[in-house]
Amino acid sequence: MTGAWPTLIVLVAAGLAIAAVALDTVIAGAPPMPLMPAARDVVVRLLAARAKGPVYDLGAGWGGVAFDLARRRPDLTVVAVERAVLPLVVLWLRRLVTRRRNLTVLWADVHRLDLKFAGGLYAYLNRPAMKRLAARLRHTAPAGIPVVSAGFTLPGWTPERILPVPASLLSPEVFLYRVPGLRDTDAV
Ligand SMILES: C[S@@+](CC[C@H](N)C(=O)[O-])C[C@H]1O[C@@H](n2cnc3c(N)ncnc32)[C@H](O)[C@@H]1O
Repeated sequence: MTGAWPTLIVLVAAGLAIAAVALDTVIAGAPPMPLMPAARDVVVRLLAARAKGPVYDLGAGWGGVAFDLARRRPDLTVVAVERAVLPLVVLWLRRLVTRRRNLTVLWADVHRLDLKFAGGLYAYLNRPAMKRLAARLRHTAPAGIPVVSAGFTLPGWTPERILPVPASLLSPEVFLYRVPGLRDTDAV
């Protein structure tokens, strides 16, 4: 019986993890699907070249984009916003292990965030959430800051650039927008 304990513990832990992801998926309306590496590189490159203030990853999932960006731009604050439990635990653990001082993990709903000090935004959510975000960002995010989306557009917004990423099957395009209003003139 003693030898069965480790197996039992692993099975219970795996069961709890699956249940947590399933619950998070129901609440968020989409699984915490990470962006594929090819598209992630494009997103990180776009934001690293343009952001002049704190960048918010709106629904950071397991933190692929947020941690890459924080590593690439140590001078920039990156805020990984998430509300699902298991991704949050992973984000906090990654933050602890990597000691990435310029990355903050924020437990919050992206639709209720105060974004007035944001210098860049990134979102890869689901269609209804992107629609809701598109409507709110117009009035709550600083004019001119870069907004990058993957997998989904921001309905009603006109992209400044559309970058094809054929190697990324689930999100084969990355979109770069600017919050309407005053224009930031740099074009890196
Ligand atoms: C498709 S994943 C994207 C993960 C990551 N940004 C990436 O590109 O790899 C979307 C994430 O957004 C989170 N999410 C969805 N709605 C949210 C909300 N209203 N507030 C905070 N996080 C949310 C989900 O829990 C999920 O982890």
